[in-house]
Amino acid sequence: METNLKILRAGLRQQLKADRLLGLRQAPLRELPETREQARPGPAAGAANHEDRVAQLDTLNTQEVKDCRLCELCQTRTQTVFGQGSATARLVFVGEAPGYEEDKQGLTFVGRAGELLTRMIAAMGLTRDEVFICNVLKCRPPANRDPSAEEILACSPYLLRQLAIIDPEVIVALGAPAAKTLLKTAQSIGKLRGRFHDFPLGAAGSAARTVPLMPTYHPAYLLRSPSEKGKTWDDLLKVMAELGLKRPT
Ligand code: URA
Repeated sequence: METNLKILRAGLRQQLKADRLLGLRQAPLRELPETREQARPGPAAGAANHEDRVAQLDTLNTQEVKDCRLCELCQTRTQTVFGQGSATARLVFVGEAPGYEEDKQGLTFVGRAGELLTRMIAAMGLTRDEVFICNVLKCRPPANRDPSAEEILACSPYLLRQLAIIDPEVIVALGAPAAKTLLKTAQSIGKLRGRFHDFPLGAAGSAARTVPLMPTYHPAYLLRSPSEKGKTWDDLLKVMAELGLKRPT
């Protein structure tokens, strides 16, 4: 009897977590400061202001990424998908690569996985405009196959430069390719997720400081394995704590 109650309670707790993750409950109150400078005078002091960063990202996109021909994906893509959100985001989400919808629309995470990511962000009390969302690859691999090592090698410098420009306080790596690329490890996402790792931020060879990076499951995986949503929600709660955002009540 006692055991049954325990199982029931555990099940309810899991359901509650999943509900929150899906944004079905009231989103938590936000504690986001008005401006980034107010939020983090330390490392960001003297850093480029919002307009500068918007301009730097735009230059990177229009002068390099947009017409990139560094790998064969340029032959099959409809367009490159640079990423979108705030140029001074405190939090950056990094996915794997554009899928069918993203390739068509030129925006990251706008398909089914994107809808779940939007609900995850809302459950954290944030909007997509307040964070930045991008991918390791800027072009869709045909039939959504896994990115090859060569493609990651060719494309990931763009991602590193995006991160250096945005200079976030926390990075969330969604899924194995993003986590393994950024942490330069072969460990599985199951082993990596759940704790912060140090990510050296800065242009290649000139890491200025480290940023906490939280690997977690990719929304596409969560759509296939909804029972894992609770683990990702736990990871996102740690991210919220790191950013000083209030936990949902
Ligand atoms: N999956 C990703 O990793 N990125 C997207 O933009 C969409 C789906």
